This record gives sequence, C-alpha cells and structure tokens, in this order.
Amino acid sequence: MANILEIESLRLAYRARGTVAYAMNDVTLSVGEGEAVGLVGESGSGKSTLARATLGLLPPRIATIESGTIRIGGRDVTRYTEDQWQAMRGNPVAMVFQDPLSYLNPVMRVGKQVAESVKRHAPRLPLQQRVGELLSLVKLPASAADAFPHELSGGMRQRALLAVALGCGPKMLVADEPTTALDVTTQAEILALIRELRERLGMALLLISHDLGIVASACERIYVMYAGHAVEWGATRDVFQRPAHPYTLGLLKAAQAARNSEGRFATIAGDPPNLSGLSPGCPFTPRCPLVREECPRQMPSAGPARNAGAQQVRCWAHR
Ligand SMILES: Nc1ncnc2c1ncn2[C@@H]1O[C@H](COP(=O)(O)OP(=O)(O)OP(=O)(O)O)[C@@H](O)[C@H]1O
Ligand SMILES: [Mg+2]
Repeated sequence: MANILEIESLRLAYRARGTVAYAMNDVTLSVGEGEAVGLVGESGSGKSTLARATLGLLPPRIATIESGTIRIGGRDVTRYTEDQWQAMRGNPVAMVFQDPLSYLNPVMRVGKQVAESVKRHAPRLPLQQRVGELLSLVKLPASAADAFPHELSGGMRQRALLAVALGCGPKMLVADEPTTALDVTTQAEILALIRELRERLGMALLLISHDLGIVASACERIYVMYAGHAVEWGATRDVFQRPAHPYTLGLLKAAQAARNSEGRFATIAGDPPNLSGLSPGCPFTPRCPLVREECPRQMPSAGPARNAGAQQVRCWAHR
C-alpha cells in the first residue's frame, strides 16, 4: 500500500513574544491510501499542530519547521509556500475541524460554498447536480443549500463542512476533533457518517480525538502522542488491548476511570510537560512509573514492544 501521507522526524517550534514551544519534536507518522489512522494524546501534545502542518495551515512567522519532512502523495511539501499550498489545499488532503462555524463563510449560503469547492477542484462536473449529490452524501436535506451556516444546528454545520471538504475530491480527510463540540447523539451520527463516507469513497482518514472510544471504533491504526513525540503506534487492537508505553497505559486507565465516574475528560497524574526546551530525554520521565537511568538522558528510538502486540514503542522499558 502506498502512503498518502508521510511525516518523517518532524520538529516544529512556535515562537511568540519571546517564548518558544516545541510542539513537534521528532514525529514520524504515515497514513496509507484508504487507511483510517487515529491520533490521540493529552491536550497540548501536538495533535492539531500535526494536522495543520499537513495542510499548510500553520501560523506564518510564528511556526517554523526546523527539521524533518512532510510528503503528500509522494511530493515533498515541507517547504511549500502559501501559493503552493493554496493550489493543493483540499485535494488530495482536506480537513474538517471542531468548530465548523469558523471555517464556513458566515455570509454565503451553504450550497454556494459547496459549489465553490467543486468549481475549484472539479470544474468539469455539472455543478448543481454535484452540489445536490454532495448534500445528500452527507445526509443534509436539499433545502440546506439555501441556508446560511448560522441557521443550521451544530451537527448540520459539521455535515456542511464535510460537504465542502468532499467537494474537493480528497484522497485523505483530516478530522480534528470533528465531534467534540456536539451532543452525544449527534457525535455518534457524525462519526458514523465519517466512517461511511470513508468506506464509500475509499478515502484515507486521519482522525484526531481526545476520546479513545471514538478513535478505536473508527480507525485501523493508531498513534499515541506525548509532548510532540509519537510514543506508541500500531494496530488499534494491539495498542488498546495490550498497551506498551506507560503513557498509553495511563491514558487508558484514566479513560476507564472517567467512564466509571461519568466524567468526560480523562487526565493522568502529574504536570503536563514543558515544551520550551529541547531536552534529549524522554519527556514522560517526570510522570513515569517505570523510570530508568537512561530515560532523562536520551529518547529511545522506536522498536517492537515487549510482551505486547506488534506495535512500535519509544520507551527504554522495551529495549
Ligand atoms: N499559534 C500558536 N502559538 C504558540 N504556541 C502554540 C500555537 N498553537 C499551538 N501552540 C502550542 O503548541 C503545543 C501543541 O498544541 P496543539 O494545539 O497542537 O495541541 P493539541 O494536541 O491539539 O491539544 P488539544 O487536545 O488541546 O487540542 C501547545 O503547547 C500549544 O500551546
Ligand atoms: Mg487540538
């Protein structure tokens, strides 16, 4: 299977008002054509940064890619200019976000916005017919074409944003917390829709979520991020049923505890990491129950997990 997305040893820093945050610090990740991959990790671990980097949506001047590469469909896009990104944004990679209102045009009717996206990426298709098809694909009534975004419910707006994204004919959809802002029933509907669309259209999916259950139900493979590092990745079943990295274990336990107490967000003990320095060691060291001598000195390279499934893990306890 060829890869639609390949990120290799990516290091990225945000610099603003004299502060620096290494939001990505040596991340390697790939998504195969048609594959569904999940990305999980605590708030601030760099998930949205990774998503934005794959669409050239990082804040200019503030964010700098310091090393590593991003390849999309085999093309090296690491140093793309805004003009180059504009030409390829939406196709082959399109994106949906948590807050569709910020990405839909508030003063343009939904049907027109879907039409604009079709015109840009597939100008030869019969326009009105294609808009109708896209609305029905995301299960919006035809009347939604005449609505302005603020006239729609949260779930319908997310469907509208999906229709705009699909109008580009993407080979991969990046979905950053697409259901987080919605009520539980609508969350389940949108998630089911994303899964269905992916299967019908043969699209790859990179799904970012706080909610481990959402990722488990929609993705074949999963990456766990901590402080700008991918610390464990592999088949969803391996990572969830036989987690290898102590951080993944903590995340799963916390999610379990949160479910039992009906809390929504899970947390694990200890402070989130400081991203302002480039420490050579494993960033999980201060919170880790398995710390060894090597941990604060050097981040281990990836390798197979011991006594677990076939996943890869970056942890000295597995070397
Ligand atoms: N525009 C920005 N300027 C400066 N720092 C930023 C900017 N965007 C993100 N960061 C920093 O980069 C780090 C990673 O942020 P990011 O939004 O990628 O995390 P996340 O994993 O998506 O978190 P969440 O789960 O809360 O969405 C954080 O420390 C954040 O403060
Ligand atoms: Mg985020």
